[in-house]
Amino acid sequence: MALALSNSVSDARGADLAACCNGARSIPLRFLVSLSISLFSPILAGSDTIATAVAGCLYLLLQHPDTLARLRQELEAEFRSDADITMARLAGLPYIRAVVDEALRIYPPISGELRRAVPTGVAVVCGHFIPGDTIISVYAFASCDNASNFAQPKRFTPERCLTTDERTEWTRNDHLEASQPFSVGPRNGIGMGLAYAETKLILARLLFRYDLELLDDKVQH
Ligand code: HEM
Repeated sequence: MALALSNSVSDARGADLAACCNGARSIPLRFLVSLSISLFSPILAGSDTIATAVAGCLYLLLQHPDTLARLRQELEAEFRSDADITMARLAGLPYIRAVVDEALRIYPPISGELRRAVPTGVAVVCGHFIPGDTIISVYAFASCDNASNFAQPKRFTPERCLTTDERTEWTRNDHLEASQPFSVGPRNGIGMGLAYAETKLILARLLFRYDLELLDDKVQH
């Protein structure tokens, strides 16, 4: 059966894909390169980042037994066994989301510069005139660890990320939007939804199955 392609695929790439699926004997190199970039980008971008997020969550939870107990309480109220734990059901639980948000604030997996070019001419960025073609960036870690954005920024407090009345009083003036672990704009982290779902699933199943403790509780970040 011949493959018909939608207009959403660019012409050259679409023609290559159609030829490949329809049994062409040779596959153009440009198509293989583009295919491998499309396949490997999400694998690379979604491996180390998730591992860092889960490690950050676990490390912080194990240092804060009260927070861990509250999270376990939420999970045990919702699930009877770890086989019940699904991404869909986790989506409705506020505390585990707050734990992940707060861990991503303290340990943003992509913490350094994400470069952006100022368009030719001039642009106003955060109230400053920046000449065109200048490369600028915001460091996630600098923004998240900043006391003008977050009260006691080094303190792990998932309650600051709750949108309910349970949000802790002393964090009410936090600028939660200053933590953007997936960046913002048209080239932000395309895997954001999957990243939250995966991180919460791994975390919930680990906590349900195992009693964890830090090997060396004197290790400081
Ligand atoms: C906690 C986990 C993750 C974090 C913190 C994260 C963060 C980010 C950030 C900040 C960017 C934007 C880079 C920029 O602005 O230049 C980005 C891009 C990207 N992410 Fe993630 N990411 C995560 C997980 C994932 C996952 C699970 C996938 C896919 C399976 C993924 C796929 C991508 C891809 C393909 C891009 C490039 C998008 C583009 O250039 O338009 N990421 N990520």
